[in-house]
Amino acid sequence: MAFVGALRLLAVGSLITASVAKPIEPRFQNDNDDTPLPLVIWHGLGDTYQADGVRHVAEIAEEVNPGTLTYLIRIDEDASRDRYHSFVGNLTEQVTKVCDDIAAHPILSTAPAIDALGFSQGGQFLRAYVERCNKPPVRSLVTFGSQHNGITNFRECEPTDWICRIAMAVVKGDAWNSAVQSTLVPAQYYRNPDEYEQYLENSNFLADINNEREEKNEEYKKNIANLENFVMYMFEDDKTVIPKETAWFEDVNGTETTPLRARKLYSEDWLGLRQLDRKGGLKFRLAPGDHMKLTEDILKEAFGDFYGPLNPHRGRSEPRPKNVHSDDL
Ligand SMILES: *[C@@H]1O[C@H](CO)[C@@H](O)[C@H](O)[C@H]1NC(C)=O
Ligand SMILES: *[C@@H]1O[C@H](CO)[C@@H](O)[C@H](O)[C@H]1NC(C)=O
Repeated sequence: MAFVGALRLLAVGSLITASVAKPIEPRFQNDNDDTPLPLVIWHGLGDTYQADGVRHVAEIAEEVNPGTLTYLIRIDEDASRDRYHSFVGNLTEQVTKVCDDIAAHPILSTAPAIDALGFSQGGQFLRAYVERCNKPPVRSLVTFGSQHNGITNFRECEPTDWICRIAMAVVKGDAWNSAVQSTLVPAQYYRNPDEYEQYLENSNFLADINNEREEKNEEYKKNIANLENFVMYMFEDDKTVIPKETAWFEDVNGTETTPLRARKLYSEDWLGLRQLDRKGGLKFRLAPGDHMKLTEDILKEAFGDFYGPLNPHRGRSEPRPKNVHSDDL
């Protein structure tokens, strides 16, 4: 009830002017089952929550599931500061801020659940939201080209992109330095199998959210296992993320690639991924092309398959998009 009432409020307010400036349709008032769950989107490195591309994705979500409230996650309301913080910041603090923002949001906080979409590094950050906060709980987490198992190398920057170049130069200098770990975002998901001990000791983010340290966090495991879907898209020709298989949580150590299901993290179920897999909620999907070369088709496929009303078998007015994979049926 509170959720529906809050949506009504939103229709007359301008609480989300920074996200999608479309009025919420009044059909929520009558049929609660028909209300799509709100969607939160976390953008990638070097992007901003106000970028045209991100906003366009929100429009596609609304097109596939009409009436979807979309919240674009930001670390700062100012777009250029938000972009800066995709390179600079302590991820523990950034995730806490996002948890607080979502928990305090007048609509999201009253939703029975939300869906989540993470682009590139935004994917592992949203996984951290699920593990550490999950208030409101995430139903389906979909990630595109994310670095779930970290990166073994740092990406190239555009010659004129000074924030990127300075950040990467510092990171390459000494990724395990605590000053670097506390301020440079990509360093916090750097994971080189050749320096595994240093990683376990110093990683400010990934070693924790992947539950790789001796002491396991049971809450993380429970929250991941309770997802309905965790969908990982890997870009077939990803040349930005090294190694690209990190998008499927695979472990690549130079000579060999170990699929997630063959890893200890899975067999000992440090994160609840095996439990989720057993109920059919763990999905590995391929997207064509290079890193984040998203097509509308691939987004519509994901949004149609995993987002929408809480009870997707009722009240869906649009036909399901093509390309429904057999692993989801
Ligand atoms: C990051 O922030 C958290 C919370 O403020 C703090 O406990 C932690 O020590 C910081 N990380 C580093 C590497 O300084
Ligand atoms: C890579 O991983 C495989 C499988 O776990 C292991 O047998 C091999 O020794 C590893 N190679 C290096 C260089 O660590």
